[in-house]
Amino acid sequence: MKYYIQSFGCQMNVYDAKSMMGLLNEAGHESTSHLEEAELILLNTCAIREGAEQRVRGRIGQLKKYKDRGSLKYLGVCGCMGQKEGERLTRDVPFLDLVMGPGAIGSIVRLVDALERGNRPVLDLHGIDDDFDEVYPVADEEIVYPRFLSIMKGCDKKCTYCIVPYTRGPERSRDPQILLQEAESLVQKGYKEITLIGQTVNSYHFGDVHFPKLLEMVNQIAGLKRIRFATSHPNSVTHEMLDAIATLDHVCEHLHLPVQSGSNRVLAEMDRNYTREDYLEITRYFRSRFKAPLIQSTLTTDIIVGFPGETEEDFEQTLDLIRSVRFDGAFMFKYSPRRGTPAAEMENQVDDFTKARRLERLIQLQQQIAGENNRWLIGQKAEVMVERVSHHPKQGRVYEARLRTGRIVKLINPEIEYRVGDMFDVIITDCSSYSLYGNPDHDGSNPKQLEIA
Ligand code: 5AD
Ligand code: SF4
Repeated sequence: MKYYIQSFGCQMNVYDAKSMMGLLNEAGHESTSHLEEAELILLNTCAIREGAEQRVRGRIGQLKKYKDRGSLKYLGVCGCMGQKEGERLTRDVPFLDLVMGPGAIGSIVRLVDALERGNRPVLDLHGIDDDFDEVYPVADEEIVYPRFLSIMKGCDKKCTYCIVPYTRGPERSRDPQILLQEAESLVQKGYKEITLIGQTVNSYHFGDVHFPKLLEMVNQIAGLKRIRFATSHPNSVTHEMLDAIATLDHVCEHLHLPVQSGSNRVLAEMDRNYTREDYLEITRYFRSRFKAPLIQSTLTTDIIVGFPGETEEDFEQTLDLIRSVRFDGAFMFKYSPRRGTPAAEMENQVDDFTKARRLERLIQLQQQIAGENNRWLIGQKAEVMVERVSHHPKQGRVYEARLRTGRIVKLINPEIEYRVGDMFDVIITDCSSYSLYGNPDHDGSNPKQLEIA
């Protein structure tokens, strides 16, 4: 059967889609990139904010026409919204055939068989995957970066605003031998870079293997040039982990560390289990491990504005923290109440107008800082790996190549033709708030001298 999977939301969904593809292909199904010929469409969904769910509902509406025409036999919703909404979805959307949660990934072939036997709707919402420690067949037909590898699933942190612990269950770390095997099979496919993922990736522990030890083990895989990881939780950061990032040669110097708020009062209400002082200490130590922080390391974050009870003063604390840390990038969100989470029940909800105003101020400040950080990079030299090649009518060949620190450098029509995965040095020549531009540096010219911060 020809199938099509569309993922929404986080990196874990992208990884789960790959796992389902591996299993479906092995069972004789075939993926297609054309919606009109797909007999099975799976929407791998996100429930983190109201907007994410609305996008999925909109997409379901758009896909109805394929059902009406008869080309689409089965439409399924998997992922966090499947788990959260469950049976309710099949009542709201009568033409839905399958609803499953993230815990049912390993059962996808059995669920599709059930559909083919005429069962409908098919539901699998039992939550936790028993086959979590299987190595799923690698479905990659071509090398596409970033390539994620899940090292753990679920979350035990239970931040009061977050739905994830309810949709993805408690934290489970994978056996290091199993995930090393999976990493090695990706390297054999041709991958030079892998991104280790987990909801709180640095809480990883299996027996006496904790996260820094795991980084050390993955760092030894022959042929693997770059190791990335996300998302870290401040409460599980140790100096040992930061030292591992600084010293292991293939581990990239990028820390994505969601702070969520700069106010200790709000952090406590969120149940984040750290203070702004703890956070500032971590980021100071991280940056101190690199001589010239801005080209050699990158710090990014997630921030929520308008959490219940957030006052103007709390919000100012967040702005103040951003000014101190000077993040290289940030994902910024308006708080969105999620049914079933403690924060959704809190009485002092912030009105949408205030949330929007705060978000706008936050984005403006962060954009200004990111632009200043980017300008500082002009003239400096660093290694990139080519991730994407595109052709523009006016500019010609445009390459998107990533620095070790995670930022993309655009190379416009360089003399040499590159392929995805090529690695070489560039000199940064120009920037905007979001983009860096550069030229390949194959003859080893002298970059601007680095200032020691
Ligand atoms: N409302 C807004 N943002 C949220 N996030 C998680 N839950 C919510 C919510 N209910 C944000 C957090 C998290 C990121 C993945 O999504 O900042 O780090
Ligand atoms: Fe959600 Fe908090 Fe767990 Fe992150 S750490 S997934 S924000 S509960």
